[in-house]
Amino acid sequence: MPATLRGAARVLPRFRRRRDPRRARGARHALSPRLFPTPLWALALATGLAPRGALANSSAPPDGMTGAPGEGTCHACHGSFPLNSGDGLFTIAGPELFAPGHTYTITVTISDPGQSRWGFEITPLDQGACAVTDPAHTQLSSSGGRSYVKQTSAGTFPGSPGPVSWSFDWTAPVPSPPEVMFYAAGNAANGNGLTSGDYIYTAAFAAALDAADVHGATSPGAPLALLGAPNPAPGSVRIRFELPDAGHARLDVLDASGRIVARLVDAFAAAGRHELLWSGAGEGQRPLPGGIYFCRLSAGSRTFTRPVVLLRAGGGL
Ligand code: HEC
Repeated sequence: MPATLRGAARVLPRFRRRRDPRRARGARHALSPRLFPTPLWALALATGLAPRGALANSSAPPDGMTGAPGEGTCHACHGSFPLNSGDGLFTIAGPELFAPGHTYTITVTISDPGQSRWGFEITPLDQGACAVTDPAHTQLSSSGGRSYVKQTSAGTFPGSPGPVSWSFDWTAPVPSPPEVMFYAAGNAANGNGLTSGDYIYTAAFAAALDAADVHGATSPGAPLALLGAPNPAPGSVRIRFELPDAGHARLDVLDASGRIVARLVDAFAAAGRHELLWSGAGEGQRPLPGGIYFCRLSAGSRTFTRPVVLLRAGGGL
């Protein structure tokens, strides 16, 4: 969204809430003289960005707004406040581990004190198949090779104080990559029938192919297992791993470019289950920026990698 428009959106004093100090900080920079009447810029964006010329609205937001790589978010039009700056919660719940071809329920939940109408859009990044199980409140669409689940008109639950949840089925692909990322954006709206005064959130969820399916065929003994929870993590990540045999184990955290940013374990470890809490800090105990990281467990001749999403307050991804 162009900076001028975001600036304009931020100065609408009617919608500014000061409960959160982060938002109050943002408001200091909000003295922009470029104040557009909201319906005008909303309409300009709606006509400029909507794919295939369709006018986006509450009964079916446009595809490609989940915040996944290469996508925008609902904030492109619902831009009154900075992304992820509200006091609400937006989460994706699904299988931490999945088996190829199996079907799982995915649930998206949003809440925000004071808001009264709701929306979302989610995509499993280029993997698996989505099916609608609650056609009154959710619908499916696809474009650019991606499929999207989003709310219907009734699925905005007008007047509901929240929290609101939507569920659908996802069938894991066969064969399957080691992990599948889900990306979603949510709208905690104020129910005014416009794009103003709405808080937009983003979330990501990593589902990992069950370790038994990764290593079961080739490795003797019990498989290595590695789980990061909660995932995405608000600040810190609990990491569990299981070793089939005692021996030297190394657990590293890598950033998206493959660079090691933290070494959590580099020692002899007993066979069985281990658990530790990673604070989200890198070298020198400095907190790492929010984003997607990979935990890599190496033991014996085997390695297992698992994505973890580190969320930072107010920053989202
Ligand atoms: C291209 C612009 C555009 C984008 C992108 C967009 N919307 Fe909207 N949205 C609108 C417009 C215009 C309205 C008002 C008209 C209406 O209600 O249909 C609206 C209204 C809504 C409302 C009702 C708001 C209220 O306060 O009553 C919800 C809920 C909603 N959108 C959800 C979403 C979600 C979820 C996304 C992202 C996945 C999204 N929208 C992305 C243009 C957009």
